[in-house]
Amino acid sequence: MEKELRIKYQRFEHWNALDESDQVLVNKAFEACKNAYAPYSKFNVGAALRLSNGEEITGSNQENVAYPSGLCAERVALFYAGANFPDESVESLCIVAKGELLPLDKVLSPCGGCRQVMLETENRQSKAYRIILVNQDETVTVFNSAHDLLPLAFGID
Ligand code: THU
Repeated sequence: MEKELRIKYQRFEHWNALDESDQVLVNKAFEACKNAYAPYSKFNVGAALRLSNGEEITGSNQENVAYPSGLCAERVALFYAGANFPDESVESLCIVAKGELLPLDKVLSPCGGCRQVMLETENRQSKAYRIILVNQDETVTVFNSAHDLLPLAFGID
């Protein structure tokens, strides 16, 4: 039996098409990107998320000479949120990047490990949240659920 998966997402020419509260997150993610510690990849990533209590949390990638010891920007932000605000839910998560690792018009797409963590956040709070990926050319891709970024994930059905 052949089955098919369909994923809906939105694309906009510029992130200024987003709701004002999400535009605030984009700006915060760009600011956070400046704090990336990425001497090895030279690829700076910034993340910003908004919680249900209005708190905005940022993160940036933090690398290490022992490569696997580093952590991606979105995981830094999500784990900070989980550690400090365990009872609040994530409403929106924005990720931006600056570096030569990706062509300018290519969608900045989170790594598999981050998708798994994003999904755990969603399952934990039993509520979907927006994931906003701002590309280097300032176009934007919006997913409405972490499930859409990790179909057939481990631990589900
Ligand atoms: N990185 C992130 O921070 N988030 C992603 O979604 C993809 C990759 C970081 C990890 C590493 O520091 C650098 O970008 C290059 O892979």
